[in-house]
Amino acid sequence: MFVWLPLTLLSQISIYTVQSAPAAFAPAPAPSPALPAYEIVKPGCIPTCGDLVVPYPFGTSQGCYLENEFSSFLINCSDSTPHLGKGSIPVRNISLIDQHIHISTRAARICYNDIATQVTYEDPYFLGLSKFQVNHTNKFTVIGCSTLALITGSRVQNYTTGCASVCDGVPSVVNGSCSGIGCCQTSLPKGARDFEVEFRVFNNSVLADIPCSSAFVAEDGFYNFSSSDLITIEERLFPVMLDWSVGTETCAIAKKNKTSYACVAPDSTCTDSVYGEGTGYQCRCPSGYEGNPYLSNGCIDVDECATSNPCHSPATCLNQPPESVQCECPHGYNLTADEKGCEIIGVSTSLFVLAVGSAWIFWLLAKRKHIKQKEKFFAQNGGFMLREELSKDNDLAKATRLFTEEDLKKATRNYDETGIIGQGGYGTVFKGLLPNNIAVAIKKSKPSEQSQTSQFINEVIILSRINHINVVKLIGCCLETEVPLLVYEFITNGTLSDHIHDKDSSTYFSWELCLQIAAEIAGAVAYLHSAASPPIIHRDIKSANILLDENFVAKVADFGASKLVPRDHAEIGTLVQGTFGYMDPEYFFSSALTEKSDVYSFGVVLAELLTGERAISFDRPEKDRSLAMYFISSMRTGNGMPSIIQKSLANDEKNIQQIKQVSMLAARCLQVTGDKRPSMKEVAMELEGLKAMVEQPWVDQGSTTDHTETEYLLNQSVLSDAMGSTGLGYSSIVGFDNTSIQMTGKVQFR
Ligand SMILES: *[C@@H]1O[C@H](CO)[C@@H](O)[C@H](O)[C@H]1NC(C)=O
Ligand SMILES: *[C@@H]1O[C@H](CO)[C@@H](O)[C@H](O)[C@H]1NC(C)=O
Ligand SMILES: *[C@@H]1O[C@H](CO)[C@@H](O)[C@H](O)[C@H]1NC(C)=O
Ligand SMILES: *[C@@H]1O[C@H](CO)[C@@H](O)[C@H](O)[C@H]1NC(C)=O
Ligand SMILES: *[C@@H]1O[C@H](CO)[C@@H](O)[C@H](O)[C@H]1NC(C)=O
Ligand SMILES: *[C@@H]1O[C@H](CO)[C@@H](O)[C@H](O)[C@H]1NC(C)=O
Ligand SMILES: *[C@@H]1O[C@H](CO)[C@@H](O)[C@H](O)[C@H]1NC(C)=O
Ligand SMILES: *[C@@H]1O[C@H](CO)[C@@H](O)[C@H](O)[C@H]1NC(C)=O
Ligand SMILES: *[C@@H]1O[C@H](CO)[C@@H](O)[C@H](O)[C@H]1NC(C)=O
Repeated sequence: MFVWLPLTLLSQISIYTVQSAPAAFAPAPAPSPALPAYEIVKPGCIPTCGDLVVPYPFGTSQGCYLENEFSSFLINCSDSTPHLGKGSIPVRNISLIDQHIHISTRAARICYNDIATQVTYEDPYFLGLSKFQVNHTNKFTVIGCSTLALITGSRVQNYTTGCASVCDGVPSVVNGSCSGIGCCQTSLPKGARDFEVEFRVFNNSVLADIPCSSAFVAEDGFYNFSSSDLITIEERLFPVMLDWSVGTETCAIAKKNKTSYACVAPDSTCTDSVYGEGTGYQCRCPSGYEGNPYLSNGCIDVDECATSNPCHSPATCLNQPPESVQCECPHGYNLTADEKGCEIIGVSTSLFVLAVGSAWIFWLLAKRKHIKQKEKFFAQNGGFMLREELSKDNDLAKATRLFTEEDLKKATRNYDETGIIGQGGYGTVFKGLLPNNIAVAIKKSKPSEQSQTSQFINEVIILSRINHINVVKLIGCCLETEVPLLVYEFITNGTLSDHIHDKDSSTYFSWELCLQIAAEIAGAVAYLHSAASPPIIHRDIKSANILLDENFVAKVADFGASKLVPRDHAEIGTLVQGTFGYMDPEYFFSSALTEKSDVYSFGVVLAELLTGERAISFDRPEKDRSLAMYFISSMRTGNGMPSIIQKSLANDEKNIQQIKQVSMLAARCLQVTGDKRPSMKEVAMELEGLKAMVEQPWVDQGSTTDHTETEYLLNQSVLSDAMGSTGLGYSSIVGFDNTSIQMTGKVQFR
């Protein structure tokens, strides 16, 4: 059964407008709390009370707080601690921003001294707050056993709510849990303006160890139940959050009375109180501002740089009213794209431009250097000389193609070693393939001295002028490289020297073939001497410079040493140049170059063909080292028929006479006195004649046998003159090998 224990309200506190002493006479509390930057009180008013900042519309003295018939915002600071109302409700905090006022309350308490008979009501508990609303987030908490506590109050209508707490003593409760066992909790209704606590004890047999029950209102989350509070809670204070507003009208109405309208700060906003009609309105500073909207100078721009500086160092923050900031960069910096940081001016663009630019410049410089180099080489290689020559002669220009460095690099697969088809004192010859699939031989000279450069250009010019089936055809050249490159038609079958001397792959030359090759060489050289205009002296006729194609057609090559002979000159003075073993001794000593020098050299090649011996050989006794001498002496001993003639040639009886004749021709070519040597044209004609006899054996050969005696005498004179060439004294020149040695500038007479 329930025992009703009605509680008597012993006192009632109401907050009404209170006339207080003028501010000037109020005791001045120490302004300990830090004051905000904005204006918080009316001029001449004390902004603090104890630790509390008291902003207008609150105030501690007459004229410093808002006062009208509905509201009083007096903070009683008579004992230096802030109190609301008539000095009974301590104030903890006042907030202008969310317009709360936090007050402190104690717990209501009831104790049962004697079960069911005596009740001591220790602390009457009523909070009448007039124009303040108890925020509904506060919690009503009851602590006790066998206790029902009710909270009643007024809002638009009266309200009553409450909760019951039951327990079987301290051990039965759970700390931290306020679920009805020793502690119960409930929310407040919205819009409560005041409250009153009533206890209803429903078991008259109260636990001896828990004689009291307590109830209080506190901000949500403030209170955490502990079993110890069942016994001692009375000394504690609990915060309650109240909402406040000014006036009784809505904003729309209040604005009409300029004298009473509270939102006086410029641009301040007004919102109606959520508690409905008669509860007034709230003022707020415009967005981006903070401060006290109830004062004319109360709202100041929020320094967002101070509250939320978005700028990254070294950017400095510049407040931009009302709500924005601007990040500013020191001199020499630009804002980044997000406008929060800084970058060195032009880092993104000019550095990029710089990088690209410098790369481009480097490339340009490299290219320029390359071009410069090409030009230098072109000049060095006689390119301008050649160009001048080419410009003089249209046909020449047509015949000579100037290749670029790249063309030839491509053709030779960057001078791949597998493409080497010849190597010697002059340089290296590569086989190359032009884009149109035409095979070419590319001669890469050794790094040139100036003398070789002119030699080179010489060859280009000479070869460009020649169009003869037995002269290797020059296709073009490249002057852009350090060493000039010559591009020839590709002759497939190697050099005559290889065919004669290469022990592994020496070719059997029939007499017919010997004659044919000899005739072809002679014809080509004769052409150079007479038909070409101006005449050309090859200067380096030797078997290594005779190429053979797949049909063993001879092609005279390597015109590097060749000379164009000015028309009115029979001989020209030059540096002595040629190859030992092939060199005209008369030219060697006089350095007077004539066409007969080529005749002598041809004589050696002819002897080579007949004998298969090398032009110079250290395998032979000293007196026979020079094939020219060896050949002549063997002719002498062999009575017109050289004993050293190739056996394969001499095998056939019918060849003997012709061999003798060709041998004799060779001997005549080898005469020391150039004047006595036949001209190349004569040699060519004679060889052509012999060739014709081989092809047409019925041609009478009697003429040669008829004049045996005179022939013999002539031969003796030829041979003795040829023997004179012993005077060359090769033995005195040591250290040269038996391949071709160029002797340049050895002797110079003019
Ligand atoms: C302020 O409170 C004190 C008691 O603390 C009281 O005596 C005094 O009258 C109050 N003043 C006003 C203006 O209510
Ligand atoms: C008072 O209110 C301000 C603003 O809401 C808050 O920052 C401060 O912590 C409060 N002080 C107390 C003692 O509650
Ligand atoms: C109660 O307080 C909370 C928290 O500050 C707030 O959001 C709410 O608006 C207040 N209630 C009223 C009716 O003002
Ligand atoms: C509210 O309660 C008070 C006293 O407790 C009473 O005088 C008043 O008539 C009540 N109002 C309503 C609307 O019930
Ligand atoms: C309440 O108290 C209990 C024990 O005393 C503790 O575990 C819990 O964390 C506390 N809760 C809060 C919100 O303080
Ligand atoms: C009242 O409390 C006493 C003591 O704890 C218990 O024995 C009794 O049953 C309770 N009465 C009721 C009605 O709960
Ligand atoms: C609850 O906590 C208090 C101290 O905070 C402690 O003395 C008491 O024994 C605890 N009670 C329970 C049931 O854990
Ligand atoms: C405006 O307010 C003042 C002060 O509250 C009052 O005296 C005056 O009568 C009001 N005027 C109007 C038109 O309501
Ligand atoms: C950087 O600053 C210069 C000079 O103030 C200005 O011309 C340029 O547009 C800026 N660049 C960026 C990306 O802001």
